Amino acid sequence: MKNKPFINRAVAPALVALTAIALGAFLYGCRKVPASAPASDKYRLVWNDDPTSTMTVAWDQHEQANATVWYGTEDHGRTFWKYGFSKKADRILDQYEMITHFAKLTNLEADKAYYFVIKDDKGVSDRYWFRTAPDTPKAFTFIGGGDTKSSDKPLEAGRASNRLVSKLRPLFVMFNGDFCSGDGTSPERWHTWLTDWHKLSTTADGRMIPVFPVHGNHENGDHANLNYIFNAPYQDNDSSRIYYSLSFGGDFFHMIALNSEIDEGGRQRAWLESDLKNNENYRFKIAGYHKPFWPHTSGKSENQYQYNQWAHLFYKYGLDVSLDGDSHMSKITYPLRPDSASAGAYMGFVRDDENGTMFLGEGSWGAFPRVNDDDKPWTLHSYSGNQIKWIHVLPEAGGQPDRMLVYTVVSSTYDENEKQTLYDAEVEALTEHNLFKIPDNIRLVENGAYGAAVKYPFHLNGVEAVANN
Ligand SMILES: [Fe+2]
Repeated sequence: MKNKPFINRAVAPALVALTAIALGAFLYGCRKVPASAPASDKYRLVWNDDPTSTMTVAWDQHEQANATVWYGTEDHGRTFWKYGFSKKADRILDQYEMITHFAKLTNLEADKAYYFVIKDDKGVSDRYWFRTAPDTPKAFTFIGGGDTKSSDKPLEAGRASNRLVSKLRPLFVMFNGDFCSGDGTSPERWHTWLTDWHKLSTTADGRMIPVFPVHGNHENGDHANLNYIFNAPYQDNDSSRIYYSLSFGGDFFHMIALNSEIDEGGRQRAWLESDLKNNENYRFKIAGYHKPFWPHTSGKSENQYQYNQWAHLFYKYGLDVSLDGDSHMSKITYPLRPDSASAGAYMGFVRDDENGTMFLGEGSWGAFPRVNDDDKPWTLHSYSGNQIKWIHVLPEAGGQPDRMLVYTVVSSTYDENEKQTLYDAEVEALTEHNLFKIPDNIRLVENGAYGAAVKYPFHLNGVEAVANN
């Protein structure tokens, strides 16, 4: 009698298929994450759209190798295939000896940690993470400042400020222009800035802090520079017109990037007015731009035209705080209203604690500090040294109203022989659980009777208003 085949012929193909699937699954499970790094670096994060639901990841890709961002809300370390989402670059740009990739992650959840790696055929990056902005009012901090240089002690001062970012881990950084020495067209200087930014501003646990970039005069070699480097938004289909705005926190926080290096009037003024009008309902509205109206160092020229174009709009639509740069020192003003006629008016401003805009500046993230020799009657405090502004934004709670606390954090000073002292190394690194703590060993500027924290709205300072002249 002929033996029956052990396996029925009809069943055999299915068995082969099942075995293949099981083997595939086994091999998949045994997959190893390559130990090697990808062919990329200069990683950075940018806010250039709704920060509650998007994040732009940018990097320099050294060779074509199928680069992909793998990301999700769970931390899978470098095991890229376990992340739920992946995204390739939306835009690739060959500029300044970098093949810059921009991958915009979309449909993100608000106020959430996202973990990610950048993977290509050569390897997998370290695991980084970021936090999306909240879509309801929630306390956060941010850092504002600007003006870095590309060599010597000013480069080191800028690096100290970058390291302070990693220690303070703000929600974002508003960088108010002047990234590199020169006119912003040197590949080498951009390489230095971007490498430093990634290595020094990233926290010890891999959290990367997004940048909200603003155009400065040292980017004027090409007015589209911040679009090349950060994919910064622009107006009128013209990449040399980089000014834009973002909002988050429900109706809590609106922020505007203006451009003091192109005509502040005309189309920019019209855009600013409509942006302020359309977003008037936000509880806090802030603006960043590079050049101050009236610098607090005498060597810098006044910017009357810029004042004429913007100051009245700021007041009319209730701008709360503005941040500028360029002069390489620090100032905080009282809240100011444009007014040339009233008693006490000086350079077109009068102190108005109720409805005025408070002006913060003036950009000494790294650049050598200039002397603060041009205070005005409405200057609250000025200071010469390298510094960044650390701002706590707090929604009403515990009987306290919506408010901001402005700290000036010193990163570097020079003595009379130009010997430099850096102040970042001993500063306590904050964690995700104590983001509003004043870190041990941080060096803060004391603003006279106002102490280290100048509060906004202004009456919260509890300091008697003094005559304005
Ligand atoms: Fe400047």
